[in-house]
Amino acid sequence: MDFFEVINKRHSVRKFTEQPVERELLDTLVSVAETAPSSKNCRSSAFMVIEDRDTIEAISLMRDRGSAFLKDAPAVIVVLGNETKTDLWVDNAAISATFLHLTATALGLGSCWVHVNGRLRVTAEPGSGLAEDYLRELLGVKDGMRILCVMAVGYEAGTRIGE
Ligand SMILES: Cc1cc2nc3c(=O)[nH]c(=O)nc-3n(C[C@H](O)[C@H](O)[C@H](O)COP(=O)(O)O)c2cc1C
Repeated sequence: MDFFEVINKRHSVRKFTEQPVERELLDTLVSVAETAPSSKNCRSSAFMVIEDRDTIEAISLMRDRGSAFLKDAPAVIVVLGNETKTDLWVDNAAISATFLHLTATALGLGSCWVHVNGRLRVTAEPGSGLAEDYLRELLGVKDGMRILCVMAVGYEAGTRIGE
């Protein structure tokens, strides 16, 4: 698929088949995302690939809106940034996530960005806490590492193999 075809085909996918994503493809997604540019080449972005069903279901509960569909995603890639390396960790992580999203399209996979940074667990209820804090505890994220978003990854439901 050439570059402009990838750009044209990219869209957010929220419904997936049960087909697992091949390990090799998950590795490719991460290694391409790692080539994204970063401020002063500080490479502050990091990735966690999650396929465990119970963990994915728990991730889907992080927010009252916009994350429930993650429950049926075959894989989830958490996009993190190291805030001790740069104040531009958000910018760097967003570029990394965009590389990941476009690469998924190029590989015939569907994906969808689900935002974490700054989002409340329950919309408009500050007392409900932050989705990021919930995920940090769930995933055992180290101090200094922040979570920008999670990317759902899988084969789009309704897409024929080879299409
Ligand atoms: C910064 C950002 C945050 C997003 N957060 C969510 C989200 O929390 N849940 C969700 O289902 N989609 C989320 N999306 C996907 C957008 O809804 C989607 O990109 C937009 O509606 C355009 O649709 P398209 O990607 O199919 O072109 C997000 C996208 C971006 C770039």
